Amino acid sequence: MTSLVVDRSCCVQCGLCVSVCPRGLIRLDEGWPRLAFPQLCIACGHCVAVCPPAALDHSRAPLARQDRLPNSPPLPAATVRQFLRSRRSIRSYQNRPVERDLLRQLLDIARFAPSGGNSQGISYQVIDSRSRLSQLTASTVAWMEEPAQALSAKSPVYAQYVKLYRQDGCDSILRNAPALILGVAAKTFARGRENTLLCLEYAELYAPSLGLGTCWAGMLEAAAFAGYPPVLELLRLPAGTVLTGALMVGFPNLSFQRLVDRQPLDITFVEA
Ligand SMILES: Cc1cc2nc3c(=O)[nH]c(=O)nc-3n(C[C@H](O)[C@H](O)[C@H](O)COP(=O)(O)O)c2cc1C
Repeated sequence: MTSLVVDRSCCVQCGLCVSVCPRGLIRLDEGWPRLAFPQLCIACGHCVAVCPPAALDHSRAPLARQDRLPNSPPLPAATVRQFLRSRRSIRSYQNRPVERDLLRQLLDIARFAPSGGNSQGISYQVIDSRSRLSQLTASTVAWMEEPAQALSAKSPVYAQYVKLYRQDGCDSILRNAPALILGVAAKTFARGRENTLLCLEYAELYAPSLGLGTCWAGMLEAAAFAGYPPVLELLRLPAGTVLTGALMVGFPNLSFQRLVDRQPLDITFVEA
C-alpha cells in the first residue's frame, strides 16, 4: 500500500509537492498535502525530494533513502560535453578479469536511469567465465552461419565476422572481453528493452571513471532475440525472463587521442 505521510510540524503548505507530481495525484486538503489516488502513484519520489523542509515521507520512496543534494551549480557545459563525447566503445581489453565488486559498482549506477512510468524492472546476469564467453562467441558465429542469416541485410557484416573467426580465430562478437553483462527482464514486461538500453548506457558512461571500458554486444543480442537455442541455452536465464541487452566489460587496452565528429545536427523547430 502506497502512503504519503505529512509532518504537519514542518510542512509550510507551499504546494510544491502538488505541482511536481507527474500524475497530479497530490491534493491540498485544508492546506495539507494528501495522496488522492495512491494506486496510480509511480513512486518517483519527486514530492519528497522537492520538499524544502523535508515534511513528506513516502512509503515507496522514503525520505530516509534520499540523499541530500549539495547546493552546487550544474557542471560546466563544456565539461559535460567533453565527458559525453569521450564515451567510446571499447573493443580491445586487457587480459585480466574484472573484480566482481567493481562490476557491482558499475551496475549500481544503472539503477538510476529513467524508465517509463518509473517501471525499472531490469536485473542483471554477469558472465565472467572465459569458457562460457568463448562458447557464446562460437554459438553466435554458428547462428550467423545459418542459412536464414543469408537473407538478412546484415549478412555481409556477419560474413566478415564469421570469416575473421573461422580463419583467424578472431572474436568480433565479444571481443575477448573478460565479462559480459546481460540485462534481463520478465517475459511479460513490455518495457524491458528500452529500460535496459537506458540502464546499461548509464553504466557505459560511468565505466571510464572505474577504469573500465564497455561495448554493446549487438551480435549476441541479435542471436538471442532471434531465439537461437544454443545461445539461449548458454545464457541460462532465469525461468520466465528474457534477454533485454548485453554489454561487454573489461579494462581497456587502448585510449583514444581524439574526439570524432558525427552526422551534423538535424533539427527543425516546428512553427505554429
Ligand atoms: C545497441 C547497440 C549494439 C551494438 N552492437 C555492437 C556489436 O555487436 N559489436 C561492436 O563492436 N559494437 C557494437 N555497438 C557499438 C557501435 O558500433 C558504436 O556505438 C558506434 O560505432 C559508435 O561508436 P562509439 O560507441 O565508439 O562512439 C553497438 C552499439 C549499440 C548502441
